[in-house]
Amino acid sequence: MDEKIRQDIFKRAKQWIHEAGKHIRDVIDEPLYIDTKSNPNDLVTDMDRNTEKYFLEKIQQTYPDHRVLGEEGYGDDIQSLEGTVWIIDPIDGTMNFVHQKRNFAISIGIFHEGIGEIGLIYNVMEDQLYTAIRGQGAFKNEKKLPQLANKVLGESILVINSVWACPNKKINHEGVQTLIKRVRGTRSYGSAALEFAFIAEGIVDGYLTLQLSPWDFAAGIVLIEEVGGIITQANGEKLNLLSNNTVLCSNREINDLIKDNIELL
Ligand code: IPD
Ligand code: CA
Ligand code: CA
Ligand code: CA
Repeated sequence: MDEKIRQDIFKRAKQWIHEAGKHIRDVIDEPLYIDTKSNPNDLVTDMDRNTEKYFLEKIQQTYPDHRVLGEEGYGDDIQSLEGTVWIIDPIDGTMNFVHQKRNFAISIGIFHEGIGEIGLIYNVMEDQLYTAIRGQGAFKNEKKLPQLANKVLGESILVINSVWACPNKKINHEGVQTLIKRVRGTRSYGSAALEFAFIAEGIVDGYLTLQLSPWDFAAGIVLIEEVGGIITQANGEKLNLLSNNTVLCSNREINDLIKDNIELL
């Protein structure tokens, strides 16, 4: 991708994400229209939908040849990663948005011919924007993030949802329990995008989950790679941006150790 075009896209994406976030903060205490999707705990609000529409409108006006893959389905029917594709989660952590009015993010990954060029994850209520451009490092607001430190497993914090430590169809839960006992501590923030941002920032060290969609991890791929971390499927294979995936993300030191402790079913 031409550098001038990439910088132009980055500048606009940054401006739009700040604008969308400010709007959410401005109306955070107003009543919400809350709906459910696949099950009673799978929430969606008018804010998820309107935020996605806001980005779609901006992108279509400014870059009519770009395509958009968004969680709420207003974008294009994406079957390939040809050209420039914006992969957008308008609110990642909708349950937190509804219940806590914090701990949610806007996540945007911009791919060109299948390569992640730009990643933005905006922690809306904290007004903290994590950004990365391929080959140019990752930043939190305007501050450059250092390369990830390699910590041993016993000094690492692992982000994991407790559901994977209970009997389930996807992973040997006893292996997960062993892993949980070996790490220093576990956390679960309820927003995959923020969890990737926190790994990039070095405040947690690994994240393992068995079900994410492309809009959950698209921006995370660019951010994590720019700080020298690893982000793959749980078996180490490359993430597929056209389907749901298992995801393992961490610094280089503990990546194999996590993989060795789990057994996918
Ligand atoms: C969800 C969050 C959550 C993860 C779920 C996602 P949403 O996204 O990232 O942390 O565990 O798998 O679906 O629906 O709030 O955008
Ligand atoms: Ca959702
Ligand atoms: Ca999401
Ligand atoms: Ca979402």
